[in-house]
Amino acid sequence: MIEVRELTKRYGATTAVDRLSFTVRPGTVTGFLGPNGAGKTTSMRILLGLDAATSGEALVNGGGYAALRRPMREVGALLDAGAVHGGRRAFDHLGWLARSNGIGARRVAEVLEQVGLAGVARKRVGGFSLGMRQRLGIAAALLGDPGVLMFDEPVNGLDPDGVRWIRELMRSLAADGRTVLVSSHLMTEMELTADRLIIIGRGRLIADTSVRELADRFRRGVLVRTPRPAALTAVLAAAGGSVESMPGGALTVTGMDVAVIGDRAAARGIPLYEVTPHSASLEEAYMELTAGSTEFGAVAS
Ligand SMILES: Nc1ncnc2c1ncn2[C@@H]1O[C@H](COP(=O)(O)OP(=O)(O)O)[C@@H](O)[C@H]1O
Ligand SMILES: [Mg+2]
Repeated sequence: MIEVRELTKRYGATTAVDRLSFTVRPGTVTGFLGPNGAGKTTSMRILLGLDAATSGEALVNGGGYAALRRPMREVGALLDAGAVHGGRRAFDHLGWLARSNGIGARRVAEVLEQVGLAGVARKRVGGFSLGMRQRLGIAAALLGDPGVLMFDEPVNGLDPDGVRWIRELMRSLAADGRTVLVSSHLMTEMELTADRLIIIGRGRLIADTSVRELADRFRRGVLVRTPRPAALTAVLAAAGGSVESMPGGALTVTGMDVAVIGDRAAARGIPLYEVTPHSASLEEAYMELTAGSTEFGAVAS
């Protein structure tokens, strides 16, 4: 479990994180979503004890990172996959991490297998592709078999196979009952991976929601096609619906669900060719929620 309470971080005049509060529960993949500069990395760094909060709390399993007795066994993280020294061999890098955390060598072989690097375990990290470095970073995160995992923009720069692999790994870690927090600036990525979403902008909480709730909140009405639009408009408007004509002759009905539209049309003998509930895409919802929160956003004309 991860709990962030009224967390604030200032760098000089910049407020990177601004009274941010949220909870990440076990058993789900929670997406930590926000435009570049929103404060995602800063929040994760504070949760991992790599930076100090200005005020507020960032707790892992009920305590601050510094209070964890065996940190690698409680929380694993992938922050910056480029951080491994290039001259090291993959096995030695993990072996060193394992030894300094009282973890056996057998576990090193296990995680290398799990991330698909067993075949290159003796190769120097300097020759690794970005995708292989990401896998190595994930192997390090998994080393202590922790119940809490954090991944900061893990799919950046990966090819489609790598992206799919990471997505499936996150889901399986959550299915094991672990707490999984994964950051991204892309909704398109999160909607495929995450169950819950913590959306932030300029260091502040914008939404703490499930993917489904967000889709419902941005439901845009029902698209209806009929050969008798004028008659249907009159019937639905009289029944309290709000009807808008679309280019091409379709109607968009709001304030009325699909069944009511169908029943009213049937009662008057008006044929329907299509009745489709319509949502804004999650991407559109995200753009709307974070409008004005981007650090270097385009100015609307
Ligand atoms: N070490 C630092 N010194 C000064 N400003 C920083 C530092 N780290 C982050 N920031 C600023 O804090 C804000 C949040 O950054 P960051 O947490 O990296 O956002 P994100 O990961 O969501 O893109 C940005 O405005 C960034 O420029
Ligand atoms: Mg970041």
